[in-house]
Amino acid sequence: MSEQATSEQTPPSTQKQPQSVVNRRQPYPQGFLDTISQGWAERPEQMPPLREQAPYAAARRAAVSEAFPGKRLVIPAGSLKQRSNDTDYPFRAHSAFTHLTGWASDAEPDSVLVFEPNGDGHDVTLYFRERADRTTAEFYADATIGEFWIGPRPALPGIAGELGVATAHLDAFEPGEDDLVVDEHDDLTRFVSELRLTKDAYEVAQMRLAIQVTADGFDDIIRELPRIIEHPRGERLVEGVFHQRARSDGNWEGYDTIAASGPHACFLHWTRNDGPVLPGDLILIDAGAEVDSLYTADITRTLPVSGTFTPIQRRVYETVREAADAAFAVARPGVRFREVHAAAMEVLARRTAEWGLLPVTAEEALDADRGGQHRRYMVHGTSHHLGLDVHDCAQARREMYYDGVLEPGMVFTIEPGLYFQIDDLTVPEEYRGIGVRIEDDILLTEDGPVNLSSALPRTADEVEAWMARLRG
Ligand code: GLY
Ligand code: MN
Repeated sequence: MSEQATSEQTPPSTQKQPQSVVNRRQPYPQGFLDTISQGWAERPEQMPPLREQAPYAAARRAAVSEAFPGKRLVIPAGSLKQRSNDTDYPFRAHSAFTHLTGWASDAEPDSVLVFEPNGDGHDVTLYFRERADRTTAEFYADATIGEFWIGPRPALPGIAGELGVATAHLDAFEPGEDDLVVDEHDDLTRFVSELRLTKDAYEVAQMRLAIQVTADGFDDIIRELPRIIEHPRGERLVEGVFHQRARSDGNWEGYDTIAASGPHACFLHWTRNDGPVLPGDLILIDAGAEVDSLYTADITRTLPVSGTFTPIQRRVYETVREAADAAFAVARPGVRFREVHAAAMEVLARRTAEWGLLPVTAEEALDADRGGQHRRYMVHGTSHHLGLDVHDCAQARREMYYDGVLEPGMVFTIEPGLYFQIDDLTVPEEYRGIGVRIEDDILLTEDGPVNLSSALPRTADEVEAWMARLRG
């Protein structure tokens, strides 16, 4: 499918075309140009109802307006990014834009949300490239945005009605010199990131949905294990099986799936996924479906490929679970975020010392200044905020995040692990090549943590029973 020329005089769209496209363009004959705009049925303007998320987005916009009186604020959705010639990555709007508009998987590239000071507060307008009508060349000749190519695009009144915000054509948007722009202005970037530290009822419901889809994806992987084991790149099949579920029941994955079998499990973000999945090994699967609202899950389970843990695998697995349980036990409103991590680390220091892996005692390893010897086996953190981004609220200040105090409404992961690299001479041979992580998604309430991902089995016994049940 390649683009055709309209005529020398008619630009094919309001967007600048790359020279490579211009060079390849074939002319449209005059008969086509004379007739293409005619003979189409009227499109009655649909007025769909206000979307469920609209009142929540309005409350968030009110908070932003109040924090930046008199300032003109710009929150861009972002643009398409080229993957290679004539092909772009799937568009995914900036999380701050989605949070403040409620416009998610169907958001238009290049849109901008603008807060215009009005003396009293702000007038808020969502600018986007409205669909071109059928008298324009864009409609039939522009492969990037033309409706003939990519399908229907939204009209201004429809989006205004659905999202409850004023809309205007992108051509009417004029950037100003004093604009505060997200990702270009630190205070605004920080504010909209910290605004997401606690989730509202709509967000929690969407997280539950993302977790449900993810749980179904893990079930799919277990069911497909016989086929996965047979394939020389079984890890790719794991990735593909999960992708099918994420796409069929959601929008995409919230991040690249980690399908790490055998010693690959010791690489924390192994996404190359080109290895085999062999009976006798463990496979660490870290995956999260992003639903249409763009909220994502982030769940890790480590499975014995054959369906049963060996004694040493079980020992490592249950220690990681013990660390996760210790983290759950301290997660309460008023506790600092970093104390959750400390609780998990204490278990890992004690166990690795007990196993004779550390050159120091557990107490020495836990010393804030001189310790940390156990961290060789888990270099990452235990928790991160989760929401529209898998690592949500990443621009929040340290005192609001790592040193911050837990509050009801926060959603974060608990994900300790133990990773014994295949060539780590500090551990006995039987440990080498074993990597385990268990990751759950937590909603903090007044009463403590709720494990949103509790539908996925966690203990070694439960995991074995889960696999036995699904594999028949
Ligand atoms: N799921 C990948 C990570 O949390 O970094
Ligand atoms: Mn995570």
